[in-house]
Amino acid sequence: MKAPRGTQDLLPGVTEKWQYVEEKLKDLSRRYHYKEIRTPIFEHTELFQRGVGDTTDIVQKEMYTFQDKGDRSITLRPEGTASVVRSFVQHKLYGSPNQPTKLFYIGPMFRYERPQQGRMRQFVQFGIEALGSADPAIDAEVIALAMNAYRDLGLQSLKLVINSLGDQESRENHRQALIDHFSPVKDELCTDCQTRLEQNPLRVLDCKKDHDHQAMATAPSILNYLNESSNEYFEKVKAYLEAMNIPYVVDENLVRGLDYYNHTAFEIMSDAEGFGAITTLSGGGRYNGLVQELGGPETPGIGFALSIERLLMALEAEGIELPIDERLDCYVVALGDEANLKASAIVHELRGAGIQVDRDYQGKKMKAQFKAADRLQARLVLVLGEDELANNQISVKNMETGDQETMSLDDITSYIKEKV
Ligand code: HAM
Repeated sequence: MKAPRGTQDLLPGVTEKWQYVEEKLKDLSRRYHYKEIRTPIFEHTELFQRGVGDTTDIVQKEMYTFQDKGDRSITLRPEGTASVVRSFVQHKLYGSPNQPTKLFYIGPMFRYERPQQGRMRQFVQFGIEALGSADPAIDAEVIALAMNAYRDLGLQSLKLVINSLGDQESRENHRQALIDHFSPVKDELCTDCQTRLEQNPLRVLDCKKDHDHQAMATAPSILNYLNESSNEYFEKVKAYLEAMNIPYVVDENLVRGLDYYNHTAFEIMSDAEGFGAITTLSGGGRYNGLVQELGGPETPGIGFALSIERLLMALEAEGIELPIDERLDCYVVALGDEANLKASAIVHELRGAGIQVDRDYQGKKMKAQFKAADRLQARLVLVLGEDELANNQISVKNMETGDQETMSLDDITSYIKEKV
């Protein structure tokens, strides 16, 4: 049997990389003062229909939706924002005196997409959400955190792309302009886009099939339809980015694939050679209105998410080795029944003292046990031979220097503690 298409097993050797990256992201969140939230992996389907939006590919084509035994429609979460906002409303986090509410999450998401490198059906997102502030400075904070998620790990070839989708009024005006622009060529567009044109014309700009249609290049830019306050907001976000020395490019065609966005939208791409066809590492934006849509009081919000899969791909493309130490602190070599009893007692005691230690369980000869210790890159090898045992002693070989010492068994724990 094999794991389902679009999923993967992470085995030892690889899980260490994941743990390293996840720890880095948690530390990053701590520095920016975002606290962890953990929401369920499945939710009522309606949450994503209302939250992510009925006209998006995610909701229309990509959700893992099923009826549970109680005949409720349940969906494996395709993203984290809708769940975080649901939880924010359900637990009235807006009532806390500490606003904005700054949250982060790490966990699996599920989308029924066509798998390819960097596109999985189960993938892990790290994301943050800041709820309760409409200050452009926090837009810049979210973008800065997103950039530092990569910079902290040593990535260099990054491109930050930003856009503004404006407020309700700006979007309405742009929507009408898009309808006017695409309607004359409607019949030349794919069937999806023909429906999109009626339901949500912004989605046409994001179409993979009609990407090269000549009407795309001349489509009206949202930036020409921003009203004064939306324009001012966008200018302030840019000024904050400049103040933090974060380079960006404005792409007026960046629309994002989820319906809840307005004002700031951004994506971070990898510029690295050989990264692959999909170059987007992460994306996010502002979603004023989503909290209300999900039954809460009017509350602005902004956030972003990245997948660890694509982050690790970017590290590989840039040839960055993570500083992961796989060496073992101690290995205990023993031969014979009595020595084995003693060996178990010693590893038990050392582990209790916080030391990483292992021993042989394959009935190996002395020489093979040394080989195993070598393979596991043990720093110290503890030897319980006949002589040692007879004198209540143990030998310690430092594998890095080759030095060997013999000492009383009673002193071994304090000695090793000091050494490692
Ligand atoms: P998204 O652009 O759909 O946004 O996904 C964010 C990131 O998740 C992508 O840039 C990509 O790194 C990763 N991703 C998405 N789909 C896959 C996949 N099939 N395989 C591997 N990685 C994938 C959101 O999900 C929003 N909730 C982000 C957000 C948070 N906006 C505001 N707050």
